[in-house]
Amino acid sequence: MTTMLDKPARIAIEAPALDAAPLSAGIKKPDLITVEQAKAMSLGDMTTLFKDHLNPGQLHFMKLLGFNKVKIESAEGMYYTDQNGRKILDFFGGFGSLALGHNHPRIVGARKKFQDENRHEIAIAFMSQYAAALAKNLAAIAPGDLDMVFLGSSGSEAMEAALKVAERAAGPKRSRIVYAENSFHGKTKGVLSVTDGPLYRGEFRLFDNNVKVPFGDIDAIRRAFESDPTIGILLLETIQGGGGINLAPPEFWQEVRALCDKHGVIWIADEVQCGVGRSGRFFAFEYANVVPDVTAVAKSLGGGKTAVGAMIARREIYMKAYGTPKTAMIHAQATFGGIGEACITAIETLNVLYDEDLIENAAVQGEYLLERLAALHAKYPKIIKDVRGQGLMIGLEFQDFSQTLPMVLRPVVAMLDDKLKGSLSGFIGALLLRDYDTLVAFTEYNRNVIRLLPPLTCERQHVDQFVDALDDLLGRGIVRIVKDFVGSQFA
Ligand SMILES: Cc1ncc(COP(=O)(O)O)c(C=O)c1O
Repeated sequence: MTTMLDKPARIAIEAPALDAAPLSAGIKKPDLITVEQAKAMSLGDMTTLFKDHLNPGQLHFMKLLGFNKVKIESAEGMYYTDQNGRKILDFFGGFGSLALGHNHPRIVGARKKFQDENRHEIAIAFMSQYAAALAKNLAAIAPGDLDMVFLGSSGSEAMEAALKVAERAAGPKRSRIVYAENSFHGKTKGVLSVTDGPLYRGEFRLFDNNVKVPFGDIDAIRRAFESDPTIGILLLETIQGGGGINLAPPEFWQEVRALCDKHGVIWIADEVQCGVGRSGRFFAFEYANVVPDVTAVAKSLGGGKTAVGAMIARREIYMKAYGTPKTAMIHAQATFGGIGEACITAIETLNVLYDEDLIENAAVQGEYLLERLAALHAKYPKIIKDVRGQGLMIGLEFQDFSQTLPMVLRPVVAMLDDKLKGSLSGFIGALLLRDYDTLVAFTEYNRNVIRLLPPLTCERQHVDQFVDALDDLLGRGIVRIVKDFVGSQFA
């Protein structure tokens, strides 16, 4: 069988001698793949190109989990459809970026109309009515005087903007940041410095003007504030995602607000993953009835169709940082900040969220999912260690079985990848996909936790479909689960 890659995938370009190329020769088009060829590409070709040009090491993990056997052809609502017409239930939800599900018709419609009318995209020279409207909508949703918005293209960029506005407002003598253990704020170098994961920190040279405290420990924050007057910023995810779905009670956030007020510290709430309705409130901090000084949203703000992130600051903070013509351009939007189609997608997303009562639905379905998972916890106490979360941001923690696994299976498991030792979540995730057409997300820092971040359009029947599948799988027992997973590696 011939494939697209029968032609060499790599093109050897011979450098012409500078004076040898006649101007009339024109510029030869390299051997480029077209959009339609990309769509029709076989799984084998796709794998080769991924290995040759994207991330060969990542392919290793895809193989472990069986993700390498899937080519997605389309996606709609709660489901992906693969090359064999198999519908895969999406409880991974793009790490929380699919509040509206896949290809929501209103989002698709708004984008088509925008394109059909040749409306403008770049918002650098002239002001953009779309950027202005999106900023106004975010200010209308955000409580208190969280009114000033910076638009970017990712959560990391929004969080960089949050750190920068806070640092400028705090002033050079109070630039030290308190952040939390197990935090995740992004992979660009600024926010990486306050992201607590050795995997991502990767021995980069990061700034060390910061202090780490346990997540949810108000006494540790108080001690830090009292002992170090150079601390001017506190940065926390309201619900930790990458750390394994960790929550703090409302009283913690109320004390955070009070402590920050007392010490003049600027509180940044990272809502990139838990925001945009996922927790059952637009912002998770609303459960505590408090308002941070700066916050950031991204992921689901793009309606599952575009890359957009927003930093939202209290007007007073923003004006201190960039409020004069002299300071206005210090951190003005980048090339694609406020780009038209991203803005109209986000505007439509916010409208759909309220028109379809999706925030309320996240609270209702989240409660039902937690209730059903709690019943599974009671049924399989030797397999499930904990179930926790808020709205449709739920963590399912499995027991570490490195010590309890039957002797006969230990040599087999010892041969598996390091990431899988002791952890059931990899096995369970792989088997949920293989045998139950269900996709779940893993957790960076806690390999025993599966993250459930389904679209907020999730209905009771989807919760039932997911929990019934999990129940059936766990009913096999640990030994069979491990054996079935090992078998899947050789299939
Ligand atoms: C809490 C939090 N902050 C920031 C980010 C970074 O967002 P992005 O991946 O869009 O840069 C993430 C991404 O997972 C996140 O979960």
